[in-house]
Amino acid sequence: MSRVAVVTGGSRGIGAAISKELKAKGCKVAAIYAGNDAAASAFTAETGIKTYKCDVTHPQICTVTLKEIETDLGPVDILVNNAGITRDAMFHKMTLGQWQEVLNTNLNALFNMTQPVWGGMRDRNFGRIICISSINGQKGQMGQANYAAAKAGEIGFVKSLAQEGAAKGITVNAICPGYIGTEMVKAVPEKVMNERILPHIPVGRIGEPEEIARCVAFLAADEAGFITGSTLTANGGQYMV
Ligand code: CAA
Repeated sequence: MSRVAVVTGGSRGIGAAISKELKAKGCKVAAIYAGNDAAASAFTAETGIKTYKCDVTHPQICTVTLKEIETDLGPVDILVNNAGITRDAMFHKMTLGQWQEVLNTNLNALFNMTQPVWGGMRDRNFGRIICISSINGQKGQMGQANYAAAKAGEIGFVKSLAQEGAAKGITVNAICPGYIGTEMVKAVPEKVMNERILPHIPVGRIGEPEEIARCVAFLAADEAGFITGSTLTANGGQYMV
């Protein structure tokens, strides 16, 4: 069956790899992006995947965008909450703005994007919600009190919603990537990456976006109905839970 999938942050980084992988698996994919029109157009030209501009921090905009996607593609079967930002700073230097931006985009957006599709999934007795959390939500990270708090919150969201969705055929899972080769990780100072991060990754390298995309495809499959409330860790052995 051709499922309809929505991927937030779906035209760049890990999200772009997820959109492509789900398309390759036969899904009709809508990729949501925040503001980079040029990257979104290039992505659509390259992949044929339609992109939708939507600020995931605004509840009404999310509702309207999801309605538009349902008109275009059909009811949403798979939602991948992937959009995320970093505003790294040691806590003694962190501003309230840096805290709020990260919590709004990485945590509050889960409500904004998931609630509009939840009722339909319940009615149709099928759904797949996949949230891209982070290794740093599991272990904490200096310089990331905001990001780690949001990403740990995401895991609590997943475990709660998994219990609510289980009787309705909806699975809800988290994936916790480690350091993956995206612009977000490339922004980490080189010295910190080489001296503080890479030596702690047993496989000896950072990951590829496609390695996370394959985890998503696995959890999104119709055959994955027995896996819910789980946290799939993909971090090269950096942190084992
Ligand atoms: N792991 C371990 N130590 C770290 C660290 C890290 N990730 N980041 C910083 N440190 C250490 C530094 O090495 C430094 O230690 P020393 O004083 O002993 O050299 C100390 O913390 C202070 O760091 P800075 O001198 O760089 O302080 P700063 O105020 O200039 O900058 C910072 C602080 C903004 C946190 C900067 O260090 C930074 O960006 N660090 C990277 C933080 C990080 O890992 N972010 C992850 C981004 S990728 C992501 O989030 C995706 C994902 O899900 C994994």
